[in-house]
Amino acid sequence: MLAAAAAAAAASWAGLALLWAAGGCAGEAAAGGYRRRVSLEYNPGWASSGVNLLHTRAVGVNDTLHYIWSTIGVPTVLLVYTASDNSSLRVNWTRLLSSSPAGAIRIEPADSVLYSTAVVFPRLWEYDGSDTSNLSLVKAWQIYPSYNLANFTWASLDGRLNETALSADFQGSGPEGAFGNGSVSFKVTAYESDNRDGPLPRLLHSANSSKVEFTMERVAPRGNHSRFALEILAVEEGSRGKQLQSARSIDDEYTPTIFEMAQLISEPHNHSWGSSFLQWKTAAYSSKTPHREDTVHCQYYPLQTVRNLSSEFRILQAYFGEDVERRCSLSALNISFGGEDNEAYKEKGYLSW
Ligand SMILES: *[C@@H]1O[C@H](CO)[C@@H](O)[C@H](O)[C@H]1NC(C)=O
Ligand SMILES: *[C@@H]1O[C@H](CO)[C@@H](O)[C@H](O)[C@H]1NC(C)=O
Ligand SMILES: *[C@@H]1O[C@H](CO)[C@@H](O)[C@H](O)[C@H]1NC(C)=O
Ligand SMILES: *[C@@H]1O[C@H](CO)[C@@H](O)[C@H](O)[C@H]1NC(C)=O
Ligand SMILES: *[C@@H]1O[C@H](CO)[C@@H](O)[C@H](O)[C@H]1NC(C)=O
Ligand SMILES: *[C@@H]1O[C@H](CO)[C@@H](O)[C@H](O)[C@H]1NC(C)=O
Ligand SMILES: *[C@@H]1O[C@H](CO)[C@@H](O)[C@H](O)[C@H]1NC(C)=O
Ligand SMILES: *[C@@H]1O[C@H](CO)[C@@H](O)[C@H](O)[C@H]1NC(C)=O
Ligand SMILES: *[C@@H]1O[C@H](CO)[C@@H](O)[C@H](O)[C@H]1NC(C)=O
Ligand SMILES: *[C@@H]1O[C@H](CO)[C@@H](O)[C@H](O)[C@H]1NC(C)=O
Ligand SMILES: *[C@@H]1O[C@H](CO)[C@@H](O)[C@H](O)[C@H]1NC(C)=O
Ligand SMILES: *[C@@H]1O[C@H](CO)[C@@H](O)[C@H](O)[C@H]1NC(C)=O
Repeated sequence: MLAAAAAAAAASWAGLALLWAAGGCAGEAAAGGYRRRVSLEYNPGWASSGVNLLHTRAVGVNDTLHYIWSTIGVPTVLLVYTASDNSSLRVNWTRLLSSSPAGAIRIEPADSVLYSTAVVFPRLWEYDGSDTSNLSLVKAWQIYPSYNLANFTWASLDGRLNETALSADFQGSGPEGAFGNGSVSFKVTAYESDNRDGPLPRLLHSANSSKVEFTMERVAPRGNHSRFALEILAVEEGSRGKQLQSARSIDDEYTPTIFEMAQLISEPHNHSWGSSFLQWKTAAYSSKTPHREDTVHCQYYPLQTVRNLSSEFRILQAYFGEDVERRCSLSALNISFGGEDNEAYKEKGYLSW
């Protein structure tokens, strides 16, 4: 499971640190109780549900966190932090759905924007894990052609949106044949206050954070020892990059089987108003109602700098512009599911991270 979140922490004169993360840092106290008013808007200003764009607005004291989750192009979440409790999202749908989407997504007033970042899930890898589960050691011929998530068919969010739970489920099915009757989904949840999740791995979240849970169900593997890996692209405006960190101090009371929390954080910056983090536990689960024995170990691999993006990165272009590669720093990594001692995906046909 991966939880992505945003946390804005006021740091007196030094400005603001915006944390984008999964459920809070290890050991972080749930005290404080900062609350936000959270509302969901599906395809604002567009009458069709043929495409999915979900706007989550989390309003705090004189600030707002805007999350834009979308499966237009590759699955993307854009996070914009503003210094106003009245900033709003503007989508020019004609432009967004055209071949030149630059400028189609804006936050107004523009001068209230303090910080913008994004996370994209471009592709799913499948490889033969019979020799090793370590994707870095797998031979090129053991890697199957990857699934480009931009080519998936995403179900309408109609009926998959829960205004009470502040959650939505983006479900995609693969190209006919290869994926069988399988599907992947990104379930996203926003929070109004600090707390700890009920189900495993019981992540700690705050009003500044959001969670995304990736699942694969009934996917037909292409081999008897298939394992899967998800590629993640992180976007930071300007030249500032991301850093990969690992924290091992885990609250054993809640998730005793989990040994590591990893995070991708913005590099420290002198003149920035924000920073963010994306945080995950190195555990996935092979059951819909996970118990400890269903734990599937996750491995992550070194961060790679990305220089070119295809036109499928539509939400990025719509917000950051056509020259997103020049305006932003792009880094990507893979996360694979299943360690040496875990079963391959085939046995359970279910994976949730
Ligand atoms: C969330 O953001 C608010 C506003 O910036 C800040 O006061 C609060 O401390 C943050 N909470 C956490 C848990 O980071
Ligand atoms: C929020 O803004 C109002 C009006 O500008 C100001 O009076 C108030 O002090 C601000 N509150 C905080 C916590 O910054
Ligand atoms: C909030 O913004 C809208 C337009 O975006 C404006 O009409 C309204 O007056 C603003 N409200 C406040 C309290 O500033
Ligand atoms: C939306 O974009 C289209 C195409 O770029 C443009 O013609 C139109 O004027 C834009 N609409 C608004 C309200 O800006
Ligand atoms: C995978 O293999 C690489 C190269 O040998 C190694 O550096 C890395 O630590 C391995 N990863 C894991 C999770 O064992
Ligand atoms: C995705 O679709 C595009 C065009 O729709 C096609 O060119 C490309 O080959 C497809 N990629 C995969 C991996 O199927
Ligand atoms: C929405 O979420 C609430 C709270 O988690 C839950 O009780 C309710 O059953 C959900 N509604 C639907 C339609 O799933
Ligand atoms: C898909 O589901 C249908 C009906 O349940 C079944 O007949 C078919 O064999 C399934 N296809 C695959 C590839 O699993
Ligand atoms: C996969 O497993 C099945 C059943 O155990 C076996 O019949 C088949 O030969 C295996 N395929 C490969 C490529 O090893
Ligand atoms: C940024 O901060 C570091 C240490 O805090 C300092 O050494 C460096 O000179 C600063 N850079 C700029 C451009 O201000
Ligand atoms: C990637 O960028 C380089 C340099 O800008 C360019 O030469 C190359 O054609 C690009 N590749 C793709 C696949 O767009
Ligand atoms: C993910 O793994 C695949 C297969 O090994 C590789 O081709 C790709 O470059 C990796 N992506 C990143 C960001 O490391």
